[in-house]
Amino acid sequence: METDSSMWTEKHKPATLEDVAGQGKAVSEVRSWVGSRKRGQAMLLAGPPGCGKTLMVEALAKESGATLIQLNASDKRSTQDIEEFAQTATTMPLFGGSKIILIDEADGLSGKQDRGAASAIIKLIKASNYPIFLTANDPWSPKLKSLKPYIKTIKVHKVPAPSVAKRLRDICVAEGIAPDEDALKHLARWSQGDMRSAVNDLQIAAQGKNAFTSDELQVLGFRERESTVFDVLPTIFRSGSMSASRKAIHMADKDSDELFWWMESNMHLEFKDPAELADAFETLAKADVFRGLVMNQQNWRFKGFMVDMMAGVSLSRKDSKTHGFIQYQPPKKFIQMARAKGRNAMIASAHSKLGGMLHCSKKSLLRDYAPYLKLIERKRKGFLESMGLDKDEIKAL
Ligand SMILES: Nc1ncnc2c1ncn2[C@@H]1O[C@H](COP(=O)(O)OP(=O)(O)O)[C@@H](O)[C@H]1O
Ligand SMILES: [Mg+2]
Repeated sequence: METDSSMWTEKHKPATLEDVAGQGKAVSEVRSWVGSRKRGQAMLLAGPPGCGKTLMVEALAKESGATLIQLNASDKRSTQDIEEFAQTATTMPLFGGSKIILIDEADGLSGKQDRGAASAIIKLIKASNYPIFLTANDPWSPKLKSLKPYIKTIKVHKVPAPSVAKRLRDICVAEGIAPDEDALKHLARWSQGDMRSAVNDLQIAAQGKNAFTSDELQVLGFRERESTVFDVLPTIFRSGSMSASRKAIHMADKDSDELFWWMESNMHLEFKDPAELADAFETLAKADVFRGLVMNQQNWRFKGFMVDMMAGVSLSRKDSKTHGFIQYQPPKKFIQMARAKGRNAMIASAHSKLGGMLHCSKKSLLRDYAPYLKLIERKRKGFLESMGLDKDEIKAL
């Protein structure tokens, strides 16, 4: 397989088993198995993505000077492919030396040929003089069932957060980047034991920079996931402070997209004054424009603008009175569809006039905006007309 040394996971890949972070127990199990290995038994390393399964086999081969013969998940793996692989794997190396055989992501062996593939692997295990490793996410995968009598399974665990943080710190130092301890800790915790994603995130956030701080974390859309949506909504709605609201959004246990819908569903409970409500919806509609850009273009740069606009809703409150406890409602999933055909047409034309301005769908215009438009209309007669709606359209809403 071509490796891309511009990827930090390749560039900063540990070369020995000792350097594999946070897997001391698994590493010593691998060593002792290799030392006392019986012919006819392979070792399965089972664990979550990015914790170092493939890495351990690569490091073992490197430090013992053995040639690694590897069947990757991306290789073709029909029965015939595996038989051919077994052929190469078991022949004696031309210039001496040893081999280590790796069948990576064995629980992903494909489709119909499973049965044949599994028995080809069993044949290989029985015939090989060299150590054979398999990796898998799920040791209980049915695809591994027939292999079970021929393998010893070792559980490889998520990499503990302090080990991830230490590793990230070492990479920063090697790259000439000054790491901020808090930022390292946050990213480590955020990666949830997946070292691959932690290193990739670090590269995206910090490559070419002098420092790695919480500012770079924001680029990743980082949030501390410490506050529930019920804690953060009052801040976003009431704080009157952009920075407090922005921080609340980042702290929320929901991502900003989901939070957007929470805001949208609860604005009417929070802003009782129609003018404030209209103002708040106008700001949220701007957030929705950026939300659309994030969704359509998969461009996370717009996420920052979206979050800013969401935070801006906190500036809509003009009176400082709090309204006491509010029972926030989760976003509604089911929408009562309008049935009457004529009404539908009127709604469609109302939507074509208002939808662009509010940046909402037809459904959302009816479900979420119509009640407030009506409320505003009641307080300020002629409001809807001034928005360009005719009588029938107003009635339909
Ligand atoms: N425990 C670890 N210590 C240091 N680096 C690691 C560790 N686990 C993963 N990595 C990094 O992530 C990359 C991918 O890890 P890999 O072993 O392929 O994960 P998987 O468990 O999914 O097989 C490695 O090349 C290495 O750069
Ligand atoms: Mg792997």
